[in-house]
Amino acid sequence: MAGGASTPALVGEVSAAGGLGFLAAGYRSPADLRADLVQVRARTGALFGVNVFVPATSATDPVALDRYRLALAGEAQRYGVTLGDPPVGDTDGWEEKLALLVEERVPLVSFTFGCPSPSVVDRFHEVGTAVVGTVTSADEARACSRAGVDVLVVQGPEAGGHRASFTPEPSQGNGVGLLPLLAEVRDAVDLDLIAAGGIMDGGAVAAVLAAGAGAAQLGTAFLRTPESGAHPRHQAALVDPRFSSTSVTLAFSGRPARGLTNRFIREYGNTAPSAYPQVHHLTVPIRKAAAAAGDPDGMALWAGQGHRFTRDLPARRLVEVLAAEAAEAAVLTAGRLRRVPGQPGESR
Ligand SMILES: Cc1cc2nc3c(=O)[nH]c(=O)nc-3n(C[C@H](O)[C@H](O)[C@H](O)COP(=O)(O)O)c2cc1C
Repeated sequence: MAGGASTPALVGEVSAAGGLGFLAAGYRSPADLRADLVQVRARTGALFGVNVFVPATSATDPVALDRYRLALAGEAQRYGVTLGDPPVGDTDGWEEKLALLVEERVPLVSFTFGCPSPSVVDRFHEVGTAVVGTVTSADEARACSRAGVDVLVVQGPEAGGHRASFTPEPSQGNGVGLLPLLAEVRDAVDLDLIAAGGIMDGGAVAAVLAAGAGAAQLGTAFLRTPESGAHPRHQAALVDPRFSSTSVTLAFSGRPARGLTNRFIREYGNTAPSAYPQVHHLTVPIRKAAAAAGDPDGMALWAGQGHRFTRDLPARRLVEVLAAEAAEAAVLTAGRLRRVPGQPGESR
């Protein structure tokens, strides 16, 4: 989880508890990422992964971007900041991060916003690193399979944060929900799948395992752990009835992302253009100032559906509780299935 939520402490605790923690390389400088790796390795010898953004730029309409800059002038004034200047050709340090991760021989590397090329996948395989692709459709799954990735994260539209889709433009029509999406991806490729999106408890973990995933990925559920680097106001908002719904919005970054519906999304969700990463850079000063002022209405409160069921538990404990709940759900479900009338084992 880029943006500060995935700290080395959170990653280390999750992995030490038998989960698989992922460090976020997104928005981090290569030097900061290297320091994060040192910290994770100091905490645990267990497997962990690093998530990298594949560079992708929207086909941006400069007039729409200028219009949005003008629309945000009042926000800049409200928070006493100057809007950010989008750098030209921003790749989020793609080449440097790849080189660093190959050199560091991390156990797993995962990609989002696109599929790494076969040659990038090969570079990681040569040093023994497993490669994970993130997909939101069967077509994206096929592309990742052709590129030679080992495992797929299948991200449903319920997920918090950015949609992992390969194109930054908002997809047309309704997003296919996680369970039918899993079925579509299973049908399309022969790879192990990790299901993500709206999974907040062990019962939901059991559900995606029953639906054919080999593992579940949870983001929002870990935001309220003490190891999370999410802003305290973000953590509180997840269970604040004032922020009871989530929306997918372009308002903060110019790329579809799901967050708690706050004032900023209500006011700018309909006017923000599809322009990533330009809008991200434009709004950084606003989001920083809102965070410094403790104002959740100007912050990007990324959250998946079901956020109000997040728990304030230490990360290690949360992994244990999720595993226990999943096991219990599996046993309960098996018991209920045996009671289906007319089926063998039906109790009379
Ligand atoms: C605060 C936050 C930041 C995220 N940052 C990233 C990221 O940097 N890279 C990525 O692949 N996914 C990111 N995601 C998406 C997660 O990897 C995952 O798909 C999502 O959290 C699953 O849905 P859930 O939040 O409902 O559990 C982020 C999610 C959240 C909530």
